[in-house]
Formats: sequence, structure tokens, C-alpha cells
Amino acid sequence: MNIDSLIRPNIRKLKPYSPARSLYQSGTFFDANENAFGSTVGLPGYYELNRYPDPSSSELRGALARFVGMSAKNIFTGNGSDEVIDLLIRIFAGPGEKVAIVEPTYGMYRVAADTAGIEAISLPLDKEFQLNVVEVLKNVSSKVKIVFLCSPNNPTGNLLRTADIERMCEGFDGIVVVDEAYIEFASAPSLARKVSRSKNLVVMRTLSKAWGLAGIRIGYAVADEEIIKYLDKVKSPYNVNRISSALAVWALQNESDMETMRKSAINERVRLAKELNALGFTVFPSEANFLLVKYPGISKVAKSLAVQDGIIVRDFGNTPMLEDCIRITVGTREQNLLLFETLKKRL
Ligand SMILES: Cc1ncc(COP(=O)(O)O)c(C=O)c1O
Repeated sequence: MNIDSLIRPNIRKLKPYSPARSLYQSGTFFDANENAFGSTVGLPGYYELNRYPDPSSSELRGALARFVGMSAKNIFTGNGSDEVIDLLIRIFAGPGEKVAIVEPTYGMYRVAADTAGIEAISLPLDKEFQLNVVEVLKNVSSKVKIVFLCSPNNPTGNLLRTADIERMCEGFDGIVVVDEAYIEFASAPSLARKVSRSKNLVVMRTLSKAWGLAGIRIGYAVADEEIIKYLDKVKSPYNVNRISSALAVWALQNESDMETMRKSAINERVRLAKELNALGFTVFPSEANFLLVKYPGISKVAKSLAVQDGIIVRDFGNTPMLEDCIRITVGTREQNLLLFETLKKRL
């Protein structure tokens, strides 16, 4: 597949901004109008907050590349994966073109498309929340430039079948984005390394979930080098800040901490599922750090949980295919017990 031919013509021709720190990385800097006298915030010297960050976040990309088992040339780092979604739409979908969203799924794909003025067509997952590849391929015209998939899917919790994603990549003449925000909690490995074979596959991942770093906004894309080059071309010059970069590198050097939390979340997921089951909930199988559960009239219960008990779950009662469903993030043992006891009273 020729990636260049999928890129919007204006982006192909775009002359990117040339940030000062991409021209010179060392020396006495008189080039970027930074504050030579220091910073008003006294964090340790190595943060150098008066200086712009490395525009290409090289150290972080290197650390992520090691974690994923790919080359740094296949990694793009963003201000959360939400930034990556936005940039992908801007690179591949122009006026009059579309993206496809296989729903129910994460809401930001549609918001990003709507914001960019790009029509987002909605295609349904099947009754098991799996991809019907034949149906999807039948319904994507040549105007559709990106298909967004999410695996494990938010809010349904299931993994999509790898064989189906591979068939999508082979059968679709556009970009297949697989959002793996929750992959660390799943029983299957990431598809990130498949980007070497499938040139139109973009795998999005994040440090917001298993790594417990939602607050520092680090998301990343793993993709063919050509796609990464275009992401770099359109991103804002210093999209990943110094503090987030440094903390992310630190976290990646301590993978065992993530492993511990990941295991705790999975154990709790299993226990919570059993408890909710005992209360009469239908619990959908989950490969993520949340459970989609169904119970007649649960929307009302969710409302009183929030108002009277300060226990907040996410109501999906108004989402097609998810009537009477709420999504519950797996908490600690103490939090889950509190949820269980309170639910028992409110049901
Ligand atoms: C499927 C999915 N993708 C992406 C994100 C956002 O990730 P980030 O925090 O990296 O922007 C979320 C957050 O809830 C999500 O559920």
C-alpha cells in the first residue's frame, strides 16, 4: 500500500514549522525567546522548565520503542491519544471525505471528526460486539479514509478478533486505526508489531490506563515510518512537555510497577464481576479495567448512586445497543466493596 497516496494533498505539500530546538539541541541559546534567567517554578534543575522541550521527544520515543519492541521511527508521541486521533483525521480526511466509526465505542472519534468538519459514518458491531468485516467493507465507500476500531473496546470491554482486524487491513484502501488504550489488561498481546506488515494499520496506545498516568497526558501511535513522518509534520512544535516526558521515561524504566497494578486490576475485575453477577447483573466479559453491566432500570439507580451516595458510574442507557447498561471502572477492593454494599441497598 502506498501511504503517500492516502495523505491529503495539502498535508503532502505542507512545509512544516521548524522549531528552534529541532535546528540546534546544544549551545548557549539566543534563538527561542526563552527566559534566560530561569523559571518561576523551582523544580529540580534537570526539568529546565525555562527551556522548550525536545520537539521530537526522542528519549521518550526510545523508551516506548523498547517497551513495544519496535524502532523509535515507528513511534509518535502525543498529548494523550486524543491528540493522535485528531491529527490522524487531519492528515487523512479532507473536505468531502469521511471516517467510519464502528459503534458502540469511544466517543472521541466522532467528536474529533465533527470538530474537523468530517462526516463520521456509524457502522454497528454485531450482537457479540465483534467486527462484521464483510458488512463494514461493504459500507465503506472510497470517500471513507479511516476506520476507527477499539480493542479492547470501550465501553463493551471485549477484544476484537485479530483475524478480523487483519482482514480489515487487507480489504480496506484506507487507514485502519486500532485504539488499544486498554490492551495491558487483555489476555491477547498488542497488535503494535503488526504495523511492519500492515502498512495501513495505526495502533494507538496510552500511558493513561495501566500505567496510571492519565494526568500527564501521554499517548502514542505505533505505525509505519511514513505515517509517523506525517504525524510529526502536522503536530504542534512542542506537543509533549518536559515534565510529562521525564515522568513517562521514569515510568517506563519501572515496568514492574505497572505490572503490579495491572495484575491487581485484573484480579479485582474478576471478583467484582462475580459480585455484580450475584446481585443479578448481566456482566459482559471484559478484557479492560472496567465492566459493562446490564440491569433493568439501572439508569435511575445510577443517578441515585451519584446524587445520594457520591458513587459515580457511567450510564450508557441512551446508547443504541446498550439499553439498561452502565460501565463501572474496576476500583480497589475497598472501593468495590463500597460499590457492592451500596448497590445492594439501591437496587
Ligand atoms: C478507548 C480510549 N481511547 C483513548 C482514550 C484517551 O486516552 P488518552 O488519555 O491517552 O488521551 C480513552 C480514555 O478513556 C479511551 O477509553
